[in-house]
Amino acid sequence: KEKALWSGRFASSPAEIMQKYSQSLDVDWHFYREDLQGSKAHGKMLHSIGILDQQELEKILQALEEIEQEVDNGSLQPKISLEDVHMNLESRLIEKLGPLGAKIHTGRSRNDQVATDYRLYMKKSINIIEEKMLFFLETLLKRAEKDVDIIVPGFTHLQHAQPISLGHYWMAYFWKFARDIKRLKNAYHTTDVNPLGAGALAGSTLPLDREFTRKELGFAINSENSLDTVSDRDYLLEFLFAASTFVLHTSGLSEDLILWCTSEFDFIEPPDAFCTGSSMMPNKKNPDALELTRGKTSGVLSSLYDLMINVKGLPLTYNRDLQEDKRPVLHTIYTVNMILDVLTPLIEGITIKEENIAPHLTKGFLLATDVAEYLVTKGIPFRETHEIVGGLVQFCIKHHKNLEDLTLEEWQSYCPTFGRDVYDILSPQLAVDRRKTFGGTARSEVKRQLTAGLELIASF
Ligand code: ARG
Repeated sequence: KEKALWSGRFASSPAEIMQKYSQSLDVDWHFYREDLQGSKAHGKMLHSIGILDQQELEKILQALEEIEQEVDNGSLQPKISLEDVHMNLESRLIEKLGPLGAKIHTGRSRNDQVATDYRLYMKKSINIIEEKMLFFLETLLKRAEKDVDIIVPGFTHLQHAQPISLGHYWMAYFWKFARDIKRLKNAYHTTDVNPLGAGALAGSTLPLDREFTRKELGFAINSENSLDTVSDRDYLLEFLFAASTFVLHTSGLSEDLILWCTSEFDFIEPPDAFCTGSSMMPNKKNPDALELTRGKTSGVLSSLYDLMINVKGLPLTYNRDLQEDKRPVLHTIYTVNMILDVLTPLIEGITIKEENIAPHLTKGFLLATDVAEYLVTKGIPFRETHEIVGGLVQFCIKHHKNLEDLTLEEWQSYCPTFGRDVYDILSPQLAVDRRKTFGGTARSEVKRQLTAGLELIASF
C-alpha cells in the first residue's frame, strides 16, 4: 500500500472504502500520455527558470520516457491508493529518481495538471472525430451525387407533401452534419488554452514561465485567470453540445431510414453487414445498427446534462465534484466514434429500391401545389387557387382518381382558366426540376449544392 503524496498533514491514512470512493483511475488512466507530456513541458520550464539544472532535467525526461514505456507495455499498473493518474505517475518518478523526482511538482497542482491533461486529450479526441466526420460528409455527398436522379415523396407530418430528389434528401443531412463539424471546431478552439501555471487556484510565488509551457504543449493561448482556469469546464460542455447535436442528427436520419426499410415503405435495403436476425423468426432482417444509433443518442444527451448539472452551483474554485467530469465525456467520445464508424459504411451500402418508390409518387396528390401555382401564373390569386385545387383533390378522392386522370372538362368545371397545358406540368420529375429556387430540390440546384458542399469540405 502506497502512502498518498499528500499524507504529511494526516495522522492516519484514508479508509479502504474511501480510497475506492476517491480514485479516478478507471477514467483518468486514459490520460497517462498527456500527463507525461505535461510533466516533460513543466520540467523543461523549471529548468528554463533555474529550478532544475541541465543534468536534473535530462534525468527527469529520461525517466518520464521510461515510465511511458512501462505503461505502454503494461508493466506499470496504477494503484488505487495513489488515487489518480497524476499521483501514480509522479510516485513512479520519485521511485525511480528519489528526491530529484520529488522536484517535478514544483509550482504545480493537480488542479492545473488535470486541466492540462484533459485539454490535451480533448484536442486529440476532437481531431480524430473531426476527421471521421469529414469522411462521413464525403460519403453523404457521394450518396447524394449518385441518387440525384431518384425521385421520392417528400414528407411533412410524415404525410406525402411534394416530390423531391433523393440527392436533395441526403444533402439536407450533409448541411446538418457540416454544422456539427463547425461546432466541433469551435469546441476545439475553446479547448486550445494552456491551464498550466494556474497552480491550485492562485498561481505561484515561483517565477513560472507560462509562455514556455504554452509553446511546449502547443496551446494557442494562456488562460487569463487562475481561478477560472482550475474551475472551467466550458470547453467540455461545448464539446458535449456539439456531440449532442451530432447524435440528434444521426438519430433523425436513422429514424427515416428505419421507416424506409419497413414492408410498408420498402424504399431501401440496408446492407446485411449492419443488420441482424431474430433468434425465433427466420424471416427477420432488422435494421439494428440504425436502431442502436437512435438509441445511443440518449446516453450522449445525458452526458451533456450530467456535466451541466455537476457544475451548476459549484463555488469557486476546484471542488472534487469536478473529478466526475470524465465519465460522461469519455462515454461520448467512444459513442460518437462508434456511430461514425458504423453509419458511414452503412449509408454507403444502402440499396435504393427505385421500382418500389415509383408507385408512391402517384399517391397523396404530390403535385397539388404545382397545379395551384400553375393557376397563379394565369393570374389567379394564390388563396383562390389553393381553394380550387383543394376542391379538385376532394373530387379525386371521391372518384378514386389522380389529378392526371382528370378530363379537361373536369378541370374546367372547377376553374375555366385550366387549359390543356395543365397536363404538361403533371410529372414528378418536372415538379422536382421546376423548383429551381436557391436551395430548392431541382436537380440543377442539388448539383449546385454538391459543388458548394465540396468547397466546404475543402475549406475545413
Ligand atoms: N483526480 C482529480 C480530478 O480528476 C485531480 C485533481 C484533484 N485535486 C484535488 N485537490 N483533490 O479532478
